[in-house]
Amino acid sequence: MKSSAPSNIALIKYMGKVDGIGNKPINASLSWTLENLRSEVHIEPVKGPDYWSPLFDLKLKPHSVEKFLKHFKFLKEKWNVHENFHIKSGNTFPSDCGLASSASSFAALTLAAAEIFQKSHPQKWGADLKELSKLSRQGSGSSCRSFFSPWALWKEEGAEALDLPLRLLHAVVILENEPKKVSSSEAHKRVITSPRFSGRVKRAESRLEDLISIIRKNEWKIGRELVWEEFEDMHDLFHTSQNPFRYITAKAREVLNWSETNWKQEGHGPWVTLDAGPNIHFLFEKSDLQWAEKYMQKFKNETVIKSWKMD
Ligand code: DP6
Repeated sequence: MKSSAPSNIALIKYMGKVDGIGNKPINASLSWTLENLRSEVHIEPVKGPDYWSPLFDLKLKPHSVEKFLKHFKFLKEKWNVHENFHIKSGNTFPSDCGLASSASSFAALTLAAAEIFQKSHPQKWGADLKELSKLSRQGSGSSCRSFFSPWALWKEEGAEALDLPLRLLHAVVILENEPKKVSSSEAHKRVITSPRFSGRVKRAESRLEDLISIIRKNEWKIGRELVWEEFEDMHDLFHTSQNPFRYITAKAREVLNWSETNWKQEGHGPWVTLDAGPNIHFLFEKSDLQWAEKYMQKFKNETVIKSWKMD
C-alpha cells in the first residue's frame, strides 16, 4: 500500500497547545498546501514486530522513528488491527534541507494506514477525510491541515478546506539544513512561559479573521503586513520564553531585511513567512509568475525549492 501527502505552510500559526493529549491547538490556524513538497509512505504486512525503514535516503532520529511508530500503533488500535507491518517513509523533496516534514509524513502515514486497514477492518468513518485529519492531528498537529487543498483552516479538533479566491506560487529558500536544536513540539511547550503569550490567542484569532477578509477582498499589500506580523509574533514568543531559543539566524534576518527594503522600493512583493526554522517561505500571486521568477533570481546561489518551473 502506497500513499502520499503534501506538506503545508501556515500563514496564521499553530503555536501552543491546550493541556492534555492529542495536539489540540490554543488558536485556529490557516495554511496553504505545498503540493510539491510531499511525503510518501509504503506499508506491507510482515511477521514479527512493526518496524520502520527509510525511503529515498530519509534520515530520521530514533526519537522521530519512535513518534512515527507510536502514531501507527494508535491507528492500529483505532481499527482494531493486530497484524504487523513494515512501514517505509520518505520525502519527495530533499530530506536533509531542514524543512519540517512532519505534516506531510504523518498525513501520508494516516492515509496509508487507513487504506490498508480499511480493507480488512472496515469502519464507517475510514474514508472520511475530516475523520482521518483528526486522527492524524493526534500524531502531529500541523498534519491535520495537509488533508485539504489548497487552503486549510484548523479550528480546535479538526481541519477543513476553506474556499478562498486566491492561488499562490510558493518558493522556500533553504538557509540551513541542520536538524533543529529545539523541536516544534518543544517550542509548543516553551512558548506558554513567555510574557507575550497572554493575548496570543486573541492576536492570532483576530489576524485569522482579518486575513480571510483581506483575501476575499484581494488586498495583497495589507495581507503581506499581516502575514509578516504573524510570523514575527510567533518568533517573539520563542525569543521571550523562560528558556529562550531562536530559529531566525543572522543570515535569515539579512534576507528578511532585503525583502522588506525591496518591498518599500518596488511597492510590490511576496508574502513572507517562517516556520519553526530559519528557512524563508515566499508566496506570490499566481498571476505574478514572471515577476516571481525575477524576484527569486536574488537567491540563485542558494538552495531553493519552487512550486513552479520556467522553460
Ligand atoms: C511552527 O505540528 O510540528 O510549524 O503537533 O507537536 O507535532 P506537533 O507540532 P507541529 O507544529 C508546527 C508548528 C509550526 C506552525 C504551524 O505549522 O502552524
